[in-house]
Amino acid sequence: MAHGAGPRGQRVILALETSCDDTCAAVVSEHGELHSNVVASQGLLHARYGGVVPEVASRRHLELVDAVTADALERASIGLDDVATVAVTRGPGLIGALLVGVSSAKALAATRRLPLVPVDHLHGHVVASTLEPDPIEPPYLCLVASGGHTFLARVDEPSAYQVLGQTLDDAAGEAFDKGARLLGLGYPGGPELDRLAREGDPDAFAFPRSAPGQLDLSFSGLKTSLLYAVRSLGEAQARQRGADLAASYQRAIVEALVQRARIALEREGLERLAIGGGVAANSELRADVERLGVAVWVPALELCTDNAAMIGAAARFGDPLDYPDYLGLDAAARIA
Ligand code: KG4
Ligand code: ZN
Repeated sequence: MAHGAGPRGQRVILALETSCDDTCAAVVSEHGELHSNVVASQGLLHARYGGVVPEVASRRHLELVDAVTADALERASIGLDDVATVAVTRGPGLIGALLVGVSSAKALAATRRLPLVPVDHLHGHVVASTLEPDPIEPPYLCLVASGGHTFLARVDEPSAYQVLGQTLDDAAGEAFDKGARLLGLGYPGGPELDRLAREGDPDAFAFPRSAPGQLDLSFSGLKTSLLYAVRSLGEAQARQRGADLAASYQRAIVEALVQRARIALEREGLERLAIGGGVAANSELRADVERLGVAVWVPALELCTDNAAMIGAAARFGDPLDYPDYLGLDAAARIA
């Protein structure tokens, strides 16, 4: 096999992602074929604290990153000598967590004098659907709803995206997690609330919707009204009506997301929609976007939640830094 060439002679990118609580590595070809996608989730580690503890996350990334990288190479049936480019999430995210990925990626690239592509995590979510075997073609609208971010982006070229609207307070996943906590469900609450909601009546409680017509979103008022509903019902009643509360609350979040997507599609004249982020796993959201009347891309769940495959996908459209220019590269908790 030629140097820098992976399976079937393709040039491949080794991508790392450690922006939050998942340690991820993936091998992606420059044409967008996915050869491996490894995620070591720290979910259980943080569950006992009810949320991600940044210091705990960084330490765990340090313990896992080498093994996860080796696993990604092995599953792609390649070695480091077959890698053409290294890619890594530079931000946004938890700074200590990001630093582990950035330092590892620099070390991996520097030993082979390979180019390094720093990637914006959000760009990764936006282009996750451009991977083979069914890549979305621009122009398209992307709705990203995760535990950390919720926004709508217009994509005309896969190298960039334009944010059309975003949450002004909590992310949609955060709204799910906080709602789940109020209903006494475990962490992360999104999947549990989704499950419970299937047994409930979504019209049982009237939760507020943020002002229609805008592309920005707000979930903090919704969370507060769930809190008031739970309080006024009292503990026993609230438990008994848990499924109705969950269904009504979920309906309010999903309606807000789908309505913004509908407005953006119409306003921008777009006919393709991709969704991403952990909330894309939500069963009601998945069903509702299919009714928007446009072609919809919902990537496999492991490409919706945080992963390095999407970082490799974005790296194909990014600007590689040559050795040794990237040695001074820093992680960035926020990206302007
Ligand atoms: O993208 P992601 O894995 O990472 C972070 O942003 O950290 O998203 C995780 C979020 C969590 O808030 C989780 O509760 C939510 O996605 N989530 C869901 C579902 N599955 C995961 N929310 C609603 N319904 C689901 N089925
Ligand atoms: Zn993410």
